[in-house]
Amino acid sequence: ANPSLLILAGDGIGPEVMAEVKRIIGWFGEKRGVTFDVSEDLVGGAAYDAHGKPLADETMAKAQEVDAVLLGAVGGPKYDVLDFSVKPERGLLRLRKEMDLYANLRPAQCFDALADFSSLKREIVAGLDIMIVRELTSGVYFGEPRGIFPDNEGGRFGVNTQRYTTEEIRRVARSAFELARRRNNRVCSMEKANVMESGILWREEVQWVHDNEYPDVELSHMYADNGAMQLVRWPRQFDVIVTDNLFGDILSDCAAMLTGSLGMLPSASLGAPMANGRPKALYEPVHGSAPDIAGQGKANPIACILSFAMALRYSFDMGEEATRLEKAVETVLADGVRTADLMGPEGGTPVSTSGMGDAVLAALDAS
Ligand code: NAI
Ligand code: MG
Repeated sequence: ANPSLLILAGDGIGPEVMAEVKRIIGWFGEKRGVTFDVSEDLVGGAAYDAHGKPLADETMAKAQEVDAVLLGAVGGPKYDVLDFSVKPERGLLRLRKEMDLYANLRPAQCFDALADFSSLKREIVAGLDIMIVRELTSGVYFGEPRGIFPDNEGGRFGVNTQRYTTEEIRRVARSAFELARRRNNRVCSMEKANVMESGILWREEVQWVHDNEYPDVELSHMYADNGAMQLVRWPRQFDVIVTDNLFGDILSDCAAMLTGSLGMLPSASLGAPMANGRPKALYEPVHGSAPDIAGQGKANPIACILSFAMALRYSFDMGEEATRLEKAVETVLADGVRTADLMGPEGGTPVSTSGMGDAVLAALDAS
């Protein structure tokens, strides 16, 4: 059977950037004989408009069956007044939770042509290609007890709990080691074992997975605060970084700015291996629905295109085709093709969303 893909374009610029990905999927079918069984459905505000829920049960069921889900973006001002239980974001949260997507992959890759967009100097970021693996379903954002409570002096105190089990740590560590084997075989694990019990357990369990299951991968440990410093000092020292939910939230946003525009950043969220050995997977750009530019053909589709490249690599074992697509993007950028978000102070004429799609397709044709 062909590999199966569920496309949930969502709201705002979601459908606009996804339209370019669909053309690229078509290209792979026509020119490379790589055919996907693609189905499409609604998520977020679009789903709410259609059936009063940000994700229909049938859509959820479909997401559980396919090899990979590709999502655009959800949300918009129109839905800000909705009750929290039916907000567009809840559609995405439901997907992540019910698919149990515990490993969030955020690559920070610097295309040479965009090195001047980085917050750092070109010499530091040129050629950068690292992957942050953030634990996504546990830790301090979910741990109990939590709440705001009255104290005995008439004041209040707030509580959150950082709680990790052995298995929660081991499974995300495995995701990181698996990735490292497909990359440069190095993992750096970050926590604060110096001041946190959960950090001590994290370090021990990651080490355990390494020693027992992935002794061939090089493993190092680093305190997360030092990790933040090292990320901006000398980011190219890293290959794969694995860390918990809270530190991963911060470190991945920090790493994102090493590479420039939000319109360039892909992501993947992976869960446990399915019967066919592939992990449960959802791929999506890091950016949101960008209501300020929606409907104007200005959105940069590259983040969504690179998310599809990640799907090719991590869900479909098509590393070569993924590289072909990433190289096409690199070529287009090197040729100076820019959407508005990638225009520097020197100016120039930006291309539209579909203009960028045209350029990537032309580069694919030439590859
Ligand atoms: P945003 O990522 O949508 O936009 C932030 C800024 O970046 C805007 O100025 C936007 O125009 C620009 N931008 C984002 N993606 C771009 C692209 N591909 N090309 C060119 N420019 C791009 O974040 P914001 O404004 O905080 O949120 C807008 C809506 O999106 C909200 O409803 C929010 O809840 C939702 N959102 C959804 C996410 C998701 O679906 N995963 C993630 C983040 C926000
Ligand atoms: Mg964040």
